[in-house]
Amino acid sequence: MAILETQDVTYFYQDGDRRRNILKETSIKFQRGKFYTILGQSGSGKTTFLSLISALDEPKSGKVLYRGKDIKSLGYERYRRNYVSIIFQSYNLVPYLSAVENVLVAMSITDNKLPDNPKEVAYNLLDYIGINKTKADRLVNRLSGGEQQRVAIARALATNVDIILADEPTGNLDEGMEEEIVAIFKDLAENHNKCVIVVTHSNEIAKQSDRTYYLKKGVLKRHG
Ligand SMILES: Nc1ncnc2c1ncn2[C@@H]1O[C@H](COP(=O)(O)OP(=O)(O)O)[C@@H](O)[C@H]1O
Ligand SMILES: [Mg+2]
Repeated sequence: MAILETQDVTYFYQDGDRRRNILKETSIKFQRGKFYTILGQSGSGKTTFLSLISALDEPKSGKVLYRGKDIKSLGYERYRRNYVSIIFQSYNLVPYLSAVENVLVAMSITDNKLPDNPKEVAYNLLDYIGINKTKADRLVNRLSGGEQQRVAIARALATNVDIILADEPTGNLDEGMEEEIVAIFKDLAENHNKCVIVVTHSNEIAKQSDRTYYLKKGVLKRHG
């Protein structure tokens, strides 16, 4: 069974009495262990699509299913807390906390069963993602952009969710850093059985994913 599925999901923005259609009936299945990318021009609705599958917004019609269950009946808040994580282009970390504290805050919010030694787990996770102990103890706004994005990824992983979403996560990073971050996404899908969905402008990233969709005029189509 698909871990995540959209069934005839539509979305529009209402501008006064004008309606701007963003998504036409969209039905897609996403599996665990796969790395997906979504391409599309600026303004095509990529962020809107991510906000629907992360329950930050609600479809105008249609359903989003998690393991076959409508996330509306599951409870949007519960879904966000326990089943999905999102990584933003601008990191959205808590600036007055250290890297390890940012990860611990996320762990304190989920209902998922986590190990008894969260601090140790947080340091290990940061280390896996390339942030050593010294950096982990530093305020996040004293870290470079690439390092902050790694902390955001560690935070997304810390709650042990199945679905990792990322909205142009390498948009603010230089090329070398981009490759390293993409390697992490691939590893999460291949070796940790996550469902990874990344919105990107980069054809290079898309080439490395298992499947690419292209969003144009409200239609999300298989690419290539
Ligand atoms: N809250 C909103 N109200 C009205 N229009 C919006 C709102 N948010 C986004 N839009 C418009 O919807 C379109 C799709 O936006 P978005 O999903 O952010 O696209 P992308 O992430 O592909 O750049 C854009 O034209 C944007 O201006
Ligand atoms: Mg966007």
